[in-house]
Amino acid sequence: DNLILLDKVDSTNNYIKKHWRELPSETVVWALEQTEGYGRKNSRWYSPLGGLWFSVLFKPRKRPLIPYYYLRMYSLVIYNVLKKKYKLNPIIKWPNDILINSKKVCGILGESVYNGGSPSCVIVGVGINVNNELREEISNSSIALKDVVGKEIPLRKLLNELNHVAYHSYYLKYFKPKAISAITKMWLNHLNVKVGDKVQVSTENNGSIYGIVNDIQSDYLEIMDDNGELRKINSGELIVI
Ligand code: BTN
Repeated sequence: DNLILLDKVDSTNNYIKKHWRELPSETVVWALEQTEGYGRKNSRWYSPLGGLWFSVLFKPRKRPLIPYYYLRMYSLVIYNVLKKKYKLNPIIKWPNDILINSKKVCGILGESVYNGGSPSCVIVGVGINVNNELREEISNSSIALKDVVGKEIPLRKLLNELNHVAYHSYYLKYFKPKAISAITKMWLNHLNVKVGDKVQVSTENNGSIYGIVNDIQSDYLEIMDDNGELRKINSGELIVI
């Protein structure tokens, strides 16, 4: 299989950004440690030994050229492995984080490499707190799998399980443009937010938006704000009130 294991790298997403041309689609780049790991909104993603830090390259060709499709699919992969293999009760926090007991166990970062106007490849970066210690600042809002399960989990085993489910349950079935709606349906079923919920979303560009969820589509959330205006949001920090 296409797995590249690095002891230490700046960021596995960066590694793929540099090498995507030579790598086949679905290559997984795994690093034991990242020195410059990053998350959404350019935040730093602390990546010491013990966590599972990897990125997957998708070169769409005939596949959908839509980054969020791969992100939704990957949150489902992680959701399913944690649920079925580890008997945990995860939930997908809109749009892609995975929570257990309301605490973040996994973050997913999608990036596209553009060539001309259209994406040439999509990179899905996954960070799972597994056996690593958490920084003080995030210890209230995040959790490591070892603390949920009560023992350390071998990283190689977890990654193999994720790759297996990704390949057999998703790539083989859903790598077609028509599958976007099927993926979206499954994702909606495991999401922490439903139509009618009162939410607050902090967005990068539009500040904080409060309101009632009016619609959830694969690529955006529609909120009716206090002034009765409908606002579409495709990313941000969402809290269900
Ligand atoms: C987030 O919740 O903000 C997303 C975090 C994504 C972190 C992963 S770790 C592997 C990959 N390499 C990075 O630099 N980031 C992603």
